[in-house]
Amino acid sequence: MIIHLDKENYKNYNYLLLSPKEVEQEYTMNPFGNFLVYVENKDIIGYIYYSDIYDRVEINQFEIDSSHRNCGKGTALLKKLINDVDKNITLEVNITNKVAISLYEKLGFKAVSLRKGYYDGIDGILMERNRTIGSEKVKDLYILGIESSCDETSASIVLNGTKEIATVTSTQIDIHKDYGGVVPEIASREHIKNITIVLEDCLRKADMNMDQIDAIAITYGPGLIGSLLVGLEAAKTLAFIYNKPLIPVHHIAGHIYANSLVKEMKFPLLAVVVSGGHTELIEMSAHYKFHKLGGTLDDAIGECYDKVARIMDLEYPGGPKIDSLSEKGKDTYKLPVPLKDNSYNFSFSGLKSAVINLVHNEEQRKNPIIKEDLACSFQKVAVEAIITKTKKAIMDKGLKSVIVAGGVAANKGLRKAMEKLAEDLNVELTIPPIKYCTDNAAMIAAAGYFAYLDGRRADLSLNSKSQDELI
Ligand code: KG4
Ligand code: ZN
Repeated sequence: MIIHLDKENYKNYNYLLLSPKEVEQEYTMNPFGNFLVYVENKDIIGYIYYSDIYDRVEINQFEIDSSHRNCGKGTALLKKLINDVDKNITLEVNITNKVAISLYEKLGFKAVSLRKGYYDGIDGILMERNRTIGSEKVKDLYILGIESSCDETSASIVLNGTKEIATVTSTQIDIHKDYGGVVPEIASREHIKNITIVLEDCLRKADMNMDQIDAIAITYGPGLIGSLLVGLEAAKTLAFIYNKPLIPVHHIAGHIYANSLVKEMKFPLLAVVVSGGHTELIEMSAHYKFHKLGGTLDDAIGECYDKVARIMDLEYPGGPKIDSLSEKGKDTYKLPVPLKDNSYNFSFSGLKSAVINLVHNEEQRKNPIIKEDLACSFQKVAVEAIITKTKKAIMDKGLKSVIVAGGVAANKGLRKAMEKLAEDLNVELTIPPIKYCTDNAAMIAAAGYFAYLDGRRADLSLNSKSQDELI
């Protein structure tokens, strides 16, 4: 992760190359001084110290810890600076340091003058990068995305985070249906059977080979650990064999970036994340800048749909079944609207219990349940809970742009209610088409592109995580 150190956060890290004292001193002495640092597991493994002087930026120091060199981290750090400052940048480099000179040249720096004896008698070269060079797109980037966090094995190639070239997805729904939900051990075994076929099919469909791929984006979590590991090992193997950068993608970032395949994302925006594992409101100020406003205190909305569907004897996954039944029903059953408070949080376990109690009571009274009506009543309350908090977040934060993400974004009732809300509040709404709402690798490749521009890279020690916060 690459971040700007500021006066508030600089003490939170382990310093391999410089000390917090030096940072503090530079900040006190140089009013133009800034630190951009590469952080891994709280260790600062590389940094650029630069002065941002009105219309230009001067790089004063640039260092990567010796055990982290030659794996693209220096390039990532420099690219992030170029991207973030968007000004002319100058630096001095020792004339004998050919590796550094070639890196700077690749990123658009040009030698402008020689500084005689600048480094203890050895000449230095002053290099400059003109910002107009930076404004031109340097190169198209083809990202191969891989997703295997639950019961879909998927591979996709996406150009510049926006254009889907090819996607191949193998779903295991028919296998898990018999068990009423995803069986983790079976899911992992199915991923192992499918992953190579899916990857080969995807490359064939795109009519591309691995040499034409610029980087590999992989869902490292959250999800089922055994399932995640299959995709992760495939991604690491390809990255190793073909010498490609590996980009770690959080599954929820993937769902959010499904929207980038539809339309350019405009910031600041509110991302309404509604999936089988997550229900969250996330504010984004720019690409890859996530700020969680609130989330579910217990069950996720998709999980609640699936559990309610089970009580109603509907097949897994229950979400789409309730959705289509509810179109034919009437809102006749009284159910409580969950968590009517002033926060941005959600709670769906109470609603689930209310449905369980209602079904049991009706059974005891020998009253048949009208499934269409129960589906309609449940959906109305579940959608209302999402809409109420979404409305509050848009109004409180004065946002003009909203995106919806995750499997439950496929829900017709929610889509309709979101459209009405957007119209009422005059905000721009984006909801991906159904194929990008449920798990797929196109969204991972799209997120991977923006993660790549943000300087995010992983090495072969990357591990999968069943739980992880989106940061
Ligand atoms: O995002 P997703 O594919 O997987 C996770 O990352 O969790 O979401 C799957 C969830 C399931 O709970 C499924 O029932 C729900 O999305 N879902 C729906 C609909 N389509 C999928 N829920 C309500 N209405 C739908 N039309
Ligand atoms: Zn998902």
